Formats: sequence, C-alpha cells, structure tokens
Amino acid sequence: MRIPLLSWLFLIPILVNFFGIYMVLASGQCQRDQQSLLLQMKNSLTFNSSLSVRLVQWSPGTDCCTWSGVDCDVAGHVIGLNLSLESISGGIENSTGLFGLQYLQRLNLAFNSFNSAQIPPRFANLTNLKYLNLSNAGFAGQIPIGISDMTRLVTLDLSTIPFKGGDHVLNLENPNLSMLVQNLSELRELYLDGVNISAHGNEWCQALSSSLPNLQVLSLIYSFLSGPINSSLVNLQSLSVIRLDWNNLSSPVPEFLAGFPNLISLSLSNCGLYGKIPKKLFQVPTIQTLDLSSNELHQSSLPEFPQNLSLWTLILTETNFSGIIPDSIGNLKNLSRIELVF
Ligand SMILES: *[C@@H]1O[C@H](CO)[C@@H](O)[C@H](O)[C@H]1NC(C)=O
Ligand SMILES: *[C@@H]1O[C@H](CO)[C@@H](O)[C@H](O)[C@H]1NC(C)=O
Ligand SMILES: *[C@@H]1O[C@H](CO)[C@@H](O)[C@H](O)[C@H]1NC(C)=O
Ligand SMILES: *[C@@H]1O[C@H](CO)[C@@H](O)[C@H](O)[C@H]1NC(C)=O
Ligand SMILES: *[C@@H]1O[C@H](CO)[C@@H](O)[C@H](O)[C@H]1NC(C)=O
Ligand SMILES: *[C@@H]1O[C@H](CO)[C@@H](O)[C@H](O)[C@H]1NC(C)=O
Ligand SMILES: *[C@@H]1O[C@H](CO)[C@@H](O)[C@H](O)[C@H]1NC(C)=O
Ligand SMILES: *[C@@H]1O[C@H](CO)[C@@H](O)[C@H](O)[C@H]1NC(C)=O
Ligand SMILES: *[C@@H]1O[C@H](CO)[C@@H](O)[C@H](O)[C@H]1NC(C)=O
Ligand SMILES: *[C@@H]1O[C@H](CO)[C@@H](O)[C@H](O)[C@H]1NC(C)=O
Ligand SMILES: *[C@@H]1O[C@H](CO)[C@@H](O)[C@H](O)[C@H]1NC(C)=O
Ligand SMILES: *[C@@H]1O[C@H](CO)[C@@H](O)[C@H](O)[C@H]1NC(C)=O
Repeated sequence: MRIPLLSWLFLIPILVNFFGIYMVLASGQCQRDQQSLLLQMKNSLTFNSSLSVRLVQWSPGTDCCTWSGVDCDVAGHVIGLNLSLESISGGIENSTGLFGLQYLQRLNLAFNSFNSAQIPPRFANLTNLKYLNLSNAGFAGQIPIGISDMTRLVTLDLSTIPFKGGDHVLNLENPNLSMLVQNLSELRELYLDGVNISAHGNEWCQALSSSLPNLQVLSLIYSFLSGPINSSLVNLQSLSVIRLDWNNLSSPVPEFLAGFPNLISLSLSNCGLYGKIPKKLFQVPTIQTLDLSSNELHQSSLPEFPQNLSLWTLILTETNFSGIIPDSIGNLKNLSRIELVF
C-alpha cells in the first residue's frame, strides 16, 4: 500500500512532540542565519575582552551551537543565551543580531554593567521568551511597556541588589506595576527587588492578584512599597515564596498570610510591622523559613508548635521578643536555625 506523501507530513508534528524531550537535550548544528545573528550581536556589544569568558571565544570558524553560553534546539535554532557576568557595558540597543533571534526562549544578561542605560524596548521583539533575567545588569530608569507584551514569560528577574545605592534605580511609574503584569498571565516567578514601584498595598496586591494566577515566587525586597498588605494577595494560592523585606508596610502582621496552602518561605524583615505575630503563621504545615526580624513586634511568647511542621529557619531578631519558648518547640524536627534574641 502506498501512503501519500501528504499523510507523512501530518505525522511530523506528532513525531516532533514525541521526541520533544530528546530535542531539548540534543543540540543541533547551528543554522547559518543564527550564527550570523550571534556574530552581529557580538560585534555590536561593548565588552571587556579580558574579563569575558564566553563572548570572547565565539568565533566564526566553529559551530555556534557549541559556543559557551549558547543553547540550540535540535534544528539548530538558538533557544538559550546566557551572557551573565560578561562585563558587557553597552551596544545592546542597536544589536539587531540579538533582537533577530526569533527562537530565543531564555535570555540571561545578569551582572553586566550597562551604565544606567534604559532597558531597550526592543526586548519585546523576542516574543518567544519564557525566561528573562536582567538582574544587576546596570539598567536604570523607567521599565519599558514592551516587557508587558512578552506574554509567554514564566520568569522575570529585574532585580538590583538593594543599597548598591545611587540613582541606578529602575522605576515602575508609567507603565506602573499594574500595566506591566496585566498580560503576563503565565508568570510563575517575579523578582523586582530594588525596583522603585512606589505603590500602596491596595494597588500592588490588586495588580498582582488580578493578573498573575500562577505566581509561585514573589520577591519585592526594597521596592518602595507601602502597606498594609491587601488581603487580595491570598487569591494567589500557588505562592510559595514571598519576600517583601525592607518595605514600609507599617501595619500589624496580617493573619491572612497563613492562608497560602503552599507557603514555604515568608520574609518580612525591616517592614515597620508592629503588634503580635498571629499564632497561625507559625503553624502553616508547609512553611520552612519565617523571617520577621527588625520589626516592632512585641511578642511575649511563642505559640505551641504542633507536630510535623516543616519549619527549619525562624528569625525573630530585633523584634523585642522577650519570653517563653514552649516545650513544643521540640516538635520542630527540622529546625536548624533559630534566632530569637536581638
Ligand atoms: C578590562 O579589565 C581589565 C582587568 O580588570 C582592566 O585592567 C582593564 O582596564 C579593563 N579594560 C577596560 C577597557 O575597561
Ligand atoms: C548562567 O551563567 C552564570 C555565570 O556563569 C551561571 O552562574 C549560571 O548558573 C548560568 N545559568 C544557567 C541557567 O545556566
Ligand atoms: C543606535 O542607533 C541610532 C540610530 O542609528 C543612533 O542614533 C544611536 O546613536 C545608536 N546608539 C548607539 C549606542 O550606538
Ligand atoms: C539571574 O541570573 C543570576 C546570575 O546568573 C542568578 O544568580 C539568578 O538566580 C538568576 N535569577 C533567576 C530568577 O533565575
Ligand atoms: C521590533 O521592535 C521595534 C520597536 O519596538 C518595532 O518597530 C518592530 O516592528 C519590531 N519588529 C518585529 C519583527 O517585531
Ligand atoms: C520612586 O518613585 C516615585 C514616583 O514614582 C518618586 O517620587 C520617588 O522619588 C522615587 N524614589 C527614588 C528613590 O527613586
Ligand atoms: C493587554 O492585552 C489587551 C488585550 O489584548 C490589550 O488591549 C491591552 O492593551 C494589553 N495591555 C498592555 C498593558 O499591554
Ligand atoms: C483591598 O484593596 C481593594 C482595592 O484594590 C479595596 O477595595 C479594599 O478595601 C482593600 N481591602 C482592605 C482591607 O483595605
Ligand atoms: C497604576 O495606574 C492605574 C491607573 O492610573 C491605577 O488604577 C493603579 O492602581 C496603578 N497601579 C499601581 C500598582 O500603582
Ligand atoms: C512609613 O509609613 C508611615 C505611614 O505611611 C509614615 O508615617 C512613615 O513616615 C514611613 N516611614 C518611613 C521610614 O518612610
Ligand atoms: C524594644 O524595647 C525597648 C524597651 O522596651 C525599646 O527601648 C526598644 O525601642 C524596643 N525595640 C524595638 C525594636 O521595638
Ligand atoms: C506526624 O507524622 C507521622 C509520620 O510521618 C504520623 O504518623 C503522625 O500521625 C503525624 N502526626 C500528626 C499530628 O500529623
């Protein structure tokens, strides 16, 4: 029996799916256009060749899929680029090579020194990106609206280590946080440490909870947030890591924070929190790390600890904790770090 060519063609997508895992592991031979885009990019970037370990080695004579920092799919398309720590200082906004890499899914430019340049709006051209990491890359100024068009993003990291000081600050004013995340519904990890978000609890909580149903990791350390935390945040039931240290929340510790069924880590140090710590917070079965240090918490005792908690790090330094530790702390079989006294 002869099977017409056309029906074989229909099989191709099925086979491609079937061998999907294989494709991710295997690296194809570089497509010529991909190689020239990468070389164009290398030429347009300004970097210190005595500090670069990856870019500096890219050479036209070899297959680009073997270059350090480059990942290809089996068809030889560039799908991942890791140029973190390459001492790149400029030339990105005119890098037609980079913005032409249409298959790119992961891009890491963390820890470079872009001298307070703006994040180029053209990142939006990379419509297949799932992972974008520009942390500590030296970008500053307003975050461009183009980022909000990258609707496939799963991980977005625009953090800058707080207190590195100066005016090297990224802002979210226009667009603000609400506009930035409005269409990023695939996002699972959001890191905006050190970004000036300047928003009130009712605004930033509402922005996140109405747009990011799949969010698991939220890191907004030193992001100029004010409080109190709005209970709409609890709609994000997949949240497992919440880091809001160094914001001025000036409120009691909300009890609803115990309402995340997957909560593993909660840190709220230096947040201007006051009052007593709600008992329930110590008793979330999944929680491993709880850091409430450097807040005006007037706690005279810790609650009883039920059996089988996962807690292994409890930090309550500089909180005016003064008092009784229940015997049931012995139930915390995993506890490896506890800091109570200031
Ligand atoms: C490149 O880095 C080396 C080693 O740190 C340094 O000596 C040199 O001045 C740098 N070059 C430029 C152009 O910044
Ligand atoms: C990217 O490169 C940096 C610096 O070499 C390295 O620390 C990091 O693990 C790499 N990331 C990935 C996902 O390979
Ligand atoms: C980028 O290209 C534009 C237009 O060609 C030019 O005006 C600008 O100076 C270039 N920027 C850099 C950093 O080369
Ligand atoms: C971003 O890249 C830096 C350096 O490679 C790494 O330390 C950091 O964990 C990355 N962030 C995410 C969210 O992967
Ligand atoms: C790339 O981005 C620029 C500026 O944002 C836009 O004008 C251009 O149409 C985009 N190109 C593609 C192929 O998306
Ligand atoms: C943060 O942004 C707000 C307005 O969006 C501005 O008034 C304030 O000066 C900024 N703070 C810093 C430290 O940049
Ligand atoms: C989000 O998507 C909607 C519908 O496609 C569009 O109207 C809106 O302008 C987008 N928002 C942003 C901030 O891009
Ligand atoms: C939470 O924020 C919404 C608006 O975003 C507001 O209507 C509501 O009153 C806030 N809840 C509290 C307890 O402040
Ligand atoms: C962003 O701006 C809109 C319109 O001005 C406002 O309704 C919203 O609360 C703001 N969101 C944040 C997080 O500031
Ligand atoms: C924190 O916020 C409260 C209330 O909004 C305000 O009175 C106080 O001055 C702020 N503290 C700091 C250090 O910004
Ligand atoms: C702790 O209590 C002492 C004395 O009651 C007070 O002077 C100090 O300011 C308090 N510190 C904090 C962080 O609340
Ligand atoms: C704690 O775990 C043990 C074994 O993992 C189980 O037998 C016991 O019932 C659990 N206790 C409670 C209070 O959940």
